[in-house]
Amino acid sequence: MAKVTTSSLLNLKQDRTKFTALTAYDASFAGAFDEEGIDVLLVGDSLGMVIQGGKDTCAVTMEEVAYHTRCVANVVKRALVIADMPFMSYATPEQTMESAAQLMRAGASMVKLEGGHWLLETITMLTERGVPVCAHLGLTPQSVHVFGGFKIQGRGDENAQRILEEAKAIEQAGAQLLVLECIPAQLAQTISETLTIPVIGIGAGKDTDGQILVMHDILGISSGYIPKFSKNYLAQTGDIRLAVKAFIQEVADGVFPAEEHTFN
Ligand code: KIV
Ligand code: NA
Repeated sequence: MAKVTTSSLLNLKQDRTKFTALTAYDASFAGAFDEEGIDVLLVGDSLGMVIQGGKDTCAVTMEEVAYHTRCVANVVKRALVIADMPFMSYATPEQTMESAAQLMRAGASMVKLEGGHWLLETITMLTERGVPVCAHLGLTPQSVHVFGGFKIQGRGDENAQRILEEAKAIEQAGAQLLVLECIPAQLAQTISETLTIPVIGIGAGKDTDGQILVMHDILGISSGYIPKFSKNYLAQTGDIRLAVKAFIQEVADGVFPAEEHTFN
């Protein structure tokens, strides 16, 4: 049971083996997901919504992400643990270094930041100082108030071209992983094929190198509605560990995401 690392994920991409990621926020779920073979566990700032009941992720603090990262990292043996840098925790270089240090001390092996061109220097600075970076493009929820809602991004040639250019630039800057959220499948495919680093999709179609979902969505307990791009695996299995296994298997087999979960 070799530990998942940035380089083992790169090998999976080169072998064209799809991998899976889930969000996790506590020791019990993280431990079970890890045992079932999820490759990447993200302590997402989605915790502001699924744990705290907020309407978006903007109220989440450093201390909160660090706390949940510690809960997850304490038990995980195999998966790569990534922690989200929360809203406004990487606005200046000093702040970025301190925030990243806090998350690495809490047990993260990589941090995730939302944004493109404005983050290039930040990505290089973190990587040079020993903090691996996962970038996040497309629907970046910390910008929900700029977007005017949770809306698909990258539609239209100009927007698609901008996201492709940003993806190339963040790889050049040193990012070792990229999350693409809620963009047309064709654009996600182009980016995944263009970049050397692995690309993880959520609402980005079936052709990214990996797939990530929010754990509450695959277990069907998100209040309100389940997003179009997600799937309730508990409903078809009746057991949490079997639900995780089914998600892993369907990604490996190219069954998930299907057309019904995809934006075009
Ligand atoms: O916070 C989160 O859960 C995320 C994933 C949806 C990628 O950023
Ligand atoms: Na997030």
